[in-house]
Amino acid sequence: MAIFKKETTAPVVVPQHIAIIMDGNGRWAKKRGLPRTAGHKKGANNFRTIADYMNKIGVKYMTFYAFSTENWKRSQDEIETIMNLFQDYLVEALERFHETDMRLVFIGDRSVLKPELVALMDKIETISKDNKGAVVNLAINYGGRQEVVAACKKIAQQVKEGTVNPEDISEDMLSDNIFTAGQPDPDLIIRPSGEFRLSNFLIWQSAYSEFWFDNVLWPDFSVKDLDRAIQDYSKRQRRFGGVK
Ligand code: IPE
Ligand code: IPE
Ligand code: MG
Repeated sequence: MAIFKKETTAPVVVPQHIAIIMDGNGRWAKKRGLPRTAGHKKGANNFRTIADYMNKIGVKYMTFYAFSTENWKRSQDEIETIMNLFQDYLVEALERFHETDMRLVFIGDRSVLKPELVALMDKIETISKDNKGAVVNLAINYGGRQEVVAACKKIAQQVKEGTVNPEDISEDMLSDNIFTAGQPDPDLIIRPSGEFRLSNFLIWQSAYSEFWFDNVLWPDFSVKDLDRAIQDYSKRQRRFGGVK
């Protein structure tokens, strides 16, 4: 008689920090004969869905790559649409952040963004800073290499002022001088859209991150796709250079 093993569901480990490269908006629109901007609108809505879901399942930190330091190479029209979508979200977030209890943090160089936008960003960061829910990092005009260079400049300044000894410069000191200071590194980095690269995202923080690449384009990336990524992550053994 055949003995059937009772089906078991492996326990799921919810990563503490998930980072997502929201890529594929343009191709999503092109496939439908729509302008690229339509893809960004759909992508921005999906960001809301996925962020709320991650908060619900207990992800404590999330980072979304929305606009890179290299994305200024795109047309004025496309850039403007992305910035307007960002602004719409900020206005909405001002209302909603008390409901969800999430804390919003902006990572990237905001000095070149429109002053109205920066004022909103500052306001949201301030009013949500004591919220106890998930920390949501939104990467706008973000570049990983630029982030490391900026941290080096800050430390060099302290050396110049005599408050830091060059011998005391450490990994922790660098981590304390980047945008994500005080936060754990991402456990899982997800990139949809079939590209297998980081594109200057979280260069320093990703040293021991796990990766999940998916062919789905970001506007179509669903909670089911996210669940699959988390299930796969749960089966992995992270060794951090040690032996298990
Ligand atoms: C990601 O989608 C959004 C940004 C980079 C701002 P893309 O606009 O890069 O979409 P594809 O890669 O061209 O499909
Ligand atoms: C990375 O996507 C940046 C964001 C998703 C915000 P890109 O579309 O800019 O990356 P490349 O050009 O394909 O590397
Ligand atoms: Mg892209």
